[in-house]
Amino acid sequence: MRIETTKAIITGGASGLGEATARHFREGGAEVTLLDRDVARGEAVAAEIGAHFAETDVTDEASVAAAIASAKANMGGLTCAINCAGIATGEKTLGRDGPHSLAAFQRTIDINLVGTFNVARLAAAEMAQNTPEPDGARGVIINTASIAAFDGQKGQAAYAASKGGIVGLSLPMARDLAREGIRVMAIAPGIFMTPMLAGLPQEVQDQLAASVTNPARLGDPSEYGRLAGFIVECGYLNGEVIRIDGALRMQ
Ligand SMILES: NC(=O)c1ccc[n+]([C@@H]2O[C@H](COP(=O)([O-])OP(=O)(O)OC[C@H]3O[C@@H](n4cnc5c(N)ncnc54)[C@H](O)[C@@H]3O)[C@@H](O)[C@H]2O)c1
Repeated sequence: MRIETTKAIITGGASGLGEATARHFREGGAEVTLLDRDVARGEAVAAEIGAHFAETDVTDEASVAAAIASAKANMGGLTCAINCAGIATGEKTLGRDGPHSLAAFQRTIDINLVGTFNVARLAAAEMAQNTPEPDGARGVIINTASIAAFDGQKGQAAYAASKGGIVGLSLPMARDLAREGIRVMAIAPGIFMTPMLAGLPQEVQDQLAASVTNPARLGDPSEYGRLAGFIVECGYLNGEVIRIDGALRMQ
């Protein structure tokens, strides 16, 4: 698969890692549709980079089905799905005010894990209809985990569980979709300079940057985008999780 012939949907494409990936793929000549619940930003980014936009809630079956149908119609096909939609949540299992809110735990799992699987399964159904490349490839799915899946911090029980689920489904999904020629990969980012982190005080950003082994800085979202592009083009990558974190290992 080549970037220039890729037809990709990117969830969370209105911001951060998804937006950077959309920019990288468009620069490489790919057709891109952003799927996001943030209509204002999604439409603005799509207009700026020449992508399509579909308002989507990744947790909603009908919403994702409609978005994929519109993306496929606009791009003339679908060969790649990149899941970047997600939320960062923090709450201790037992806090000063009592046990972790069950609703907050369920919402984190619902958006980060169920939403990812919802998009992946519906995208796979479309990709399975593609005429295969000479090597049998029909498409690739890239999910976003986090280093929190391996080194979760205090207050990250829900977030780390949601990301651990994404790590766990990479291999079985790759096996499930082997017959259809669809690869499934996951990227586990360290700490990236996305709008979420840009809002933190400079002092906190500096501390986070200093904690990274080498290079001692926050990740640039374009580095995530370039890794996603490499995964698309390197057809032997499948069923694996790649950390992109400057060798950061959280204590
Ligand atoms: N930034 C980091 O350092 C970092 C590190 C590890 C993992 N991640 C993961 O990368 C992904 C992207 O993170 P980011 O930093 O770019 O965040 P971000 O907040 O900049 O972007 C997330 C996007 O997802 C969208 N979104 C949220 N819920 C949605 C829903 N239900 N349906 C559709 N769209 C929805 C938001 O509108 C937003 O545009 C997340 O899954 C996050 O957990 C980020």
